[in-house]
Amino acid sequence: MAAETLRDAQTILIVDDTPRNLAPVITVLEERGYQVAVAQDGEEGLARARLIQPDLILLDIRLPGADGFSVCRELKADPATRDIPVIFMTALSHGEHKVQGFAAGGVDYLTKPLHLEEVLARVATHLRLGAALADLEKRNAQLDQSRLELERRVEESTAQLRDMAAQRELALDLERKRIAREIHDELGQILTALKLGISTLRLQFGAANPGLGERVRDLLGLADKSIQVVRNVAGSLRPAALDMGICPALEWLAEQFERHAGIPCLLSLPAHPEPLDESRATTLFRVAQEALTNVARHAQAGQVEMELAVEPSGACRLVIHDDGQGFELRHGAQGFGLLGMRERVNGLGGRLDIASRHGGGTRIQASLPAPGNGGTGS
Ligand SMILES: Nc1ncnc2c1ncn2[C@@H]1O[C@H](COP(=O)(O)OP(=O)(O)OP(=O)(O)O)[C@@H](O)[C@H]1O
Ligand SMILES: [Mg+2]
Repeated sequence: MAAETLRDAQTILIVDDTPRNLAPVITVLEERGYQVAVAQDGEEGLARARLIQPDLILLDIRLPGADGFSVCRELKADPATRDIPVIFMTALSHGEHKVQGFAAGGVDYLTKPLHLEEVLARVATHLRLGAALADLEKRNAQLDQSRLELERRVEESTAQLRDMAAQRELALDLERKRIAREIHDELGQILTALKLGISTLRLQFGAANPGLGERVRDLLGLADKSIQVVRNVAGSLRPAALDMGICPALEWLAEQFERHAGIPCLLSLPAHPEPLDESRATTLFRVAQEALTNVARHAQAGQVEMELAVEPSGACRLVIHDDGQGFELRHGAQGFGLLGMRERVNGLGGRLDIASRHGGGTRIQASLPAPGNGGTGS
């Protein structure tokens, strides 16, 4: 028979020491289009099973040498033949043999003398079952593959989103910094020049114009106020305190908070902090700023504690803890403040933990990994 046909036809291996007795079975199987191979003892049966990979095996229990049970056990232990269904055949019809056959890994049992129609029915059933099982396993493997692929894509998109958020924050910070510098340098200098000019007017024309002194004082007051506004705007865009490092910046923030909110802020800073790079320092500063703003707006707190810890590796942790009324954490129920904090911190590979409950205060913790150690965000 041509190789093509051999592969297309389903192959049944019969392992029996007296195949002559099985001639009618072999004939009827071949008539139904099955390819039949025969082995006369257990060893030959194992070798042929490995070689031709039949679709089903009819296995006699009484064989010269190794009996059918141990042949079946060997077939089931070998990954190459494990999935081939085995139907036992024997003249013995003892129940214990059936149990032994199933325990050895057989799928069914035929009692000799064989009944041709029964053989055909059982063979067809187990071939169909085997094919369905193989198909199911293939689909399972495909599903597993798709799931892995999906997980990989989700992870990839999440990482991309995180990168984009980090890039956006960085670009925003750089732009804020540039605008702050422009406002400070340009507008600040112009206003200072204006102030000097107004003072000169008084010196030059004050003696001749009695009302001028008071007018000039008003104008100087306005110029001072304008300079203060410029400082405040520049400061809110990018606090000058950050130029000195994160610790002085947090001190400045705590001071401002105490002054404006009237709530004591206990600050705990590392004695010899490792310097933090711009984006990490800005992130921590913005988290502290928003957390303190939230305390002032929502907490009705008696006091706030703010603590910064920086490890030698550069990993750092900022905690802002208030003793106010707290709030209920509901997924998706946060405003832009908390969302922004989380995005900033996640963007640097860190995590933001918020713990709050009614009457129990609020604790916000931002943890950033050591530089170049972008862990998974929360
Ligand atoms: N320290 C806090 N104490 C009590 N409630 C708080 C505290 N921080 C946040 N909240 C609650 O969580 C909500 C969300 O805070 P979030 O900062 O995200 O938004 P917001 O402050 O309402 O508005 P914004 O977008 O201007 O910051 C607040 O409206 C408030 O109810
Ligand atoms: Mg807020």
